[in-house]
Amino acid sequence: MIIVTTIDELLEVTSSLKGSIGFVPTMGALHEGHLSLIKKARSENDSVVVSIFVNPTQFLEGEDLDAYPRKEQADRKICELAGVDILFMPTVDMMYEKDELNIIAPAIRGFILEGTKRAGHFDGMLQIVMKLLNLIAYNKPSNFCAYFGKKDAQQLVLITQMVKNYFINVQIVPCDIVRDSDGLALSSRNVYLSTEERIKALSLSRSLKRATELVMQKEFNTQIIREEMKKVLSEVDIEYVALVNREFEQIDIVELGNTIILVAGRVGTTRLIDNLWI
Ligand code: PAJ
Repeated sequence: MIIVTTIDELLEVTSSLKGSIGFVPTMGALHEGHLSLIKKARSENDSVVVSIFVNPTQFLEGEDLDAYPRKEQADRKICELAGVDILFMPTVDMMYEKDELNIIAPAIRGFILEGTKRAGHFDGMLQIVMKLLNLIAYNKPSNFCAYFGKKDAQQLVLITQMVKNYFINVQIVPCDIVRDSDGLALSSRNVYLSTEERIKALSLSRSLKRATELVMQKEFNTQIIREEMKKVLSEVDIEYVALVNREFEQIDIVELGNTIILVAGRVGTTRLIDNLWI
């Protein structure tokens, strides 16, 4: 595995790659969720590039930018064992100039749910993803796929839209959510949870399970499903429970094969999100 820390080095090493490239952008503190994306990229491409960059522009004032877990040594090992060819770990100065033009998330999809709870987050996320995709596309690989988790459903939908709107030559590959055996969706932020908080956090995935049960019993009314989910979430400081279609439009009736059920909330000071695609 080649580790590169500058843009020049990245462009140089990617210029000699032959065949398809699978790219997995991350913020590090890698877990099995990230690893599943890397493995999928590995199995589908000639070369795999992973980036680790804790992107400051997607953290809001007062969020956990400084506390965000950084595990450089362990991450390198994980990437190496997973057969990653190139690991890109740039610095903030390399990725950003002082005065940059910005990308603004689309008016409707970008400003609901995570977009209202974390105003500005998606602008910064799209900005860095655009930069990273352009860097990997720079040497015109014969085929270029980028892998993103459904765990961040709204992020995935917005990136897909950005690629379409800006004609970026990449195929976005959605990947399933990886969970711990107890159901908790893996997240780099789970390390913030105490033992008691972790137990409370399980109600997020339990609420989604409850929603599945209701749908299986042919309860398709989204208002009723939301109310039932909220009962399961009594120990969570709920930020939203939402049922949307794949376009992220609110729906009154579940459309099988086209619905995402999303939940976000705080357990103690830790903010958690989870969702289910049905
Ligand atoms: P990060 O939170 O590190 O996640 C990197 C990728 O891993 C994202 O595509 C995310 O959806 C996926 N992922 C995280 N947890 C997962 C899980 N339990 N199962 C499946 N996939 C999971 O998302 C970001 O970083 C950043 O916003 C980034 C896209 C890198 C831009 O800075």
